[in-house]
Amino acid sequence: MKELLKSLPKRDRDLTNDPLWYRNAVFYEVMVRAFHDSDGDGIGDLRGLIKRLDYLAWLGVDALWLPPFYPSPMRDGGYDVADYRGIDPRYGTMRDFEKLIKEVHKRGMRITIDLVMNHTSDQHPWFQASRTDPDGPYGDYYVWSDTDQKWTDARIIFTDVETSNWAWDAHREQYYWHRFYSHQPDLNFENPAVQQEMFDIARFWLKKGIDGFRLDAVPYLFEDEDNSGENDPRTHQFLRDLRKMVDTEFPGAVLLAEANQPPHEAAEYFGTEEEPECHMCFHFPVMPRIFHSLKAEDATRLREVLHDTPVPPAKGQWSTFLRNHDELTLEMVSEDERHQMFDWYAPHPQMKAHTGIRRRLAPLLDNSEQALELAHALILSLPGTPCLYYGDEIAMGDNVWLPDRDSVRTPMQWTPDRNAGFSDADPGALYLPTVQSLLFHYNGVNIERSLMQPTSLLFWMRRFLKARAEHPAFSDGGYKDVPSDNPAVFSFLRTHEDESVLVAMNFSTHQSSALLTLEDYAGGKVKTIISKTPFQDVGDDGTLRLTFGPQSFYWLVVKHA
Ligand code: BGC
Repeated sequence: MKELLKSLPKRDRDLTNDPLWYRNAVFYEVMVRAFHDSDGDGIGDLRGLIKRLDYLAWLGVDALWLPPFYPSPMRDGGYDVADYRGIDPRYGTMRDFEKLIKEVHKRGMRITIDLVMNHTSDQHPWFQASRTDPDGPYGDYYVWSDTDQKWTDARIIFTDVETSNWAWDAHREQYYWHRFYSHQPDLNFENPAVQQEMFDIARFWLKKGIDGFRLDAVPYLFEDEDNSGENDPRTHQFLRDLRKMVDTEFPGAVLLAEANQPPHEAAEYFGTEEEPECHMCFHFPVMPRIFHSLKAEDATRLREVLHDTPVPPAKGQWSTFLRNHDELTLEMVSEDERHQMFDWYAPHPQMKAHTGIRRRLAPLLDNSEQALELAHALILSLPGTPCLYYGDEIAMGDNVWLPDRDSVRTPMQWTPDRNAGFSDADPGALYLPTVQSLLFHYNGVNIERSLMQPTSLLFWMRRFLKARAEHPAFSDGGYKDVPSDNPAVFSFLRTHEDESVLVAMNFSTHQSSALLTLEDYAGGKVKTIISKTPFQDVGDDGTLRLTFGPQSFYWLVVKHA
C-alpha cells in the first residue's frame, strides 16, 4: 500500500498564494482520529494524517477541514472542548500539528480547523471555576439564571436526548444555559472577556499558520427573548469584528459559518460587501433538497430552493456538501418532506438521530454507482465550494448499531488487511470498529482496491475534481436556471466571463428525454467537458433536446453562435 501511494502522480495545483483560494477549492472533511493511526494505539493521529496527505493531494483535494482535535472528554466527538489551545495527547503534540500545517502547504493545499465558540465542555477549567466561584473572574463566563423559565421559545436541538436548554448546577444552585448536550454549557458572549478570549484563541491558531476556521454552531452565540436564541444582531456584530481582525492581521484566512438556517438567514452570515462577516457559509437548505429530489425523481423543490438562495456579496461563497460527521439534518425541510425523507432514507429506527438520519452517503443512495456519481456531480457544479466527507470517495458504508453519530465516524478503509489498514492495533482496541457489514465490508471497499480499478468511484472523483478545477465557471460563474420540459431533468448554466457550462441531470431512475430552452445560445456550439469532444449544437430556435440514461448527466460547454 505504501508503495502504491508513493507511486501516485504529484499534485500540480498551488493555492497557497491566492487570497481568494477558497472560491475555487474543493474541501475535504477529515477527522484526525478516523484517518490513519501511526503509532498503533487504535486511534488516528496527526502523524498518520501527514502520512496520507499525498493521497489527498493526488485525489485533487485543495483544503482540509479538521473537526476538533483539542483536549476533550469526548462526549460529543470533541465538540466538547476542555482546552482551546491544546492538542489532545491521543492525536499527538503541538509539534505534530505544526508539521501538519507545513506539509499541507508544501503540497499547495490549505488547512482549516473547527472553532467551537458557542460552548465548552463542562470539564473546561472556566466552567469549573464559574460554578464554584460565582464572584471570581470566570463567574460570568457562562449564562446563569435562577429560573429555567427564560427564553422558553428557543428550540431544543438534540430533541431526542435533552428536554430543556437549561440544566441545574447543584454547586452554584443556579441553572446554566446549553443549546446542545447538558454537558456543553454555552459561553456568555455578553461578557466582553469571553469575546476577547475568542479573539485571542483565533489569533493563537492563525499565528500557527492555519488558513481559517469552520465556525461551529455560530447562530447561537447571543440569546434574547425576541429571537429564540438564534441569529441575534449582536452575533452578527461580533462576526463583523472577528472578520475585520482576520482580514487585517491574517489576510487570506477564511471564516466558514455552520449556520443551519433557511436561505435568507443563512446568507446573513456573509454580511455585506461593506461590512462582511464570513467568507463562506454551508448551504444547509440545499443539502436535504438534493436527497429529496433524487428520491422524488423530481427537481422542482431543488430549483425552488436555488431560486430562493441569495447571491453572496463579492468574495463570499456558499459551500455545498452531501454528508459530514453529523446526521443528515432535516431541519431545513417542511414537516411533510421530513416524514417522506424518514420513510425513504431511514426505514429502521436505528438510522435516526436528533432531527435527521445518521447514515453515510453510499448506504443512503443504495450504493448505486449512478446515484453516487450524480450526487457528486451536483455538488461539484452548483454554485459554491464543495466539501467532501472522508471515505465518501470510495463509497464507504456506516454502522448504525454504534451510538449517536459514531455510525458515520468509523475508521478510513485503506486496504483489505487487518483494521482496513487504518491501524496495527488489536482490532478490539480501535476507537470504533471498522465497517464489516455484508455490503460495505472493508475487504471490498477500500482505497487499495479502488486504485486497482480504473473505473472505480475514486478515479471518477479524481477526474471530475480535475475537470472542475479547469473550468472557472464552476467556482466563479453565475447561476441561471435553464427551463426543461421534464420535471425529472434538472438543468442550469454556470457562466463566467466568456465561458458557459451547461449542467443537465436526469433524476429519474429510468431513461428520460428533455427539451431545454437556451434562447441566448440559439445555433450555439456545444462541447463535452470530460472528453472535450463536439456535441450536438443548440437548435436555431434556442432549444436543445437531450436524452439520458437512468440518473445520468451532462457537463457541457456552450458557446454563442
Ligand atoms: C457539530 C456537531 C456538534 C454540535 C455541538 C455542531 O453543529 O457539527 O457535531 O454536536 O455542533 O457542538
